[in-house]
Amino acid sequence: MKKLKLYWNERYQSLADEELSWTEVRPDLSLEWIEKLADRDDSIIDIGGGRSALIASLLGQGYTQLTHLDLSSVASRELQERLGEKANQINWICGSVLDFSSAATIDVWHDRAVFHFLTKAKDRQQYVKVLEQHLSPEGRVILATFHTSGPKKCSGLPICQYTSESLVREFNQWSETDWELELGAINDHVTPSGNVQVFQYSSLRKSR
Ligand SMILES: C[S@@+](CC[C@H](N)C(=O)[O-])C[C@H]1O[C@@H](n2cnc3c(N)ncnc32)[C@H](O)[C@@H]1O
Repeated sequence: MKKLKLYWNERYQSLADEELSWTEVRPDLSLEWIEKLADRDDSIIDIGGGRSALIASLLGQGYTQLTHLDLSSVASRELQERLGEKANQINWICGSVLDFSSAATIDVWHDRAVFHFLTKAKDRQQYVKVLEQHLSPEGRVILATFHTSGPKKCSGLPICQYTSESLVREFNQWSETDWELELGAINDHVTPSGNVQVFQYSSLRKSR
């Protein structure tokens, strides 16, 4: 994990947002779904939030319980600097999602382009375990990964591609209770350099 942290820190240190393939000027689909699924006082975590504009947008829209988690201390620090005084309203966690541990309950778990880096089954199992330890009973998981018709690598690293259906199967494989799909979408992300990357977005919840 130390090597991976150095890798991500180096990416953020050497490249501006306009040079990072995953940068979205405005994370529209994430914002639209969070608006649908969450109340303003629900607790929301952005897993691998990097320097994404999501947290600042949510803060601007009046969400009050926000957590940003990322392995990269550089991304975390730079985003805090950008936010200035407002950074104090956010809970910042620097570390791997696989080691995440908190007494707090999460209502919305948002992850864009992190889960797909888990190419080892034991890491995906650990991810689902950690998530289930923290998610509230009515909690939602918004997961965006490269789609099966999308790229095979992200930021130079190998990834696993998904559809909404295969993601639900993946979660159910590691869980004692059933997960179901609430919302699903295929989304063309236009990178800052003008390439199109096909993502799948899924919102999962525990079956009732
Ligand atoms: C492709 S970027 C996506 C950033 C952001 N979610 C977005 O959509 O703009 C992946 C992010 O996940 C972070 N990351 C990678 N592996 C991680 C892990 N195991 N735990 C937490 N963050 C991780 C990286 O530091 C990076 O910020």
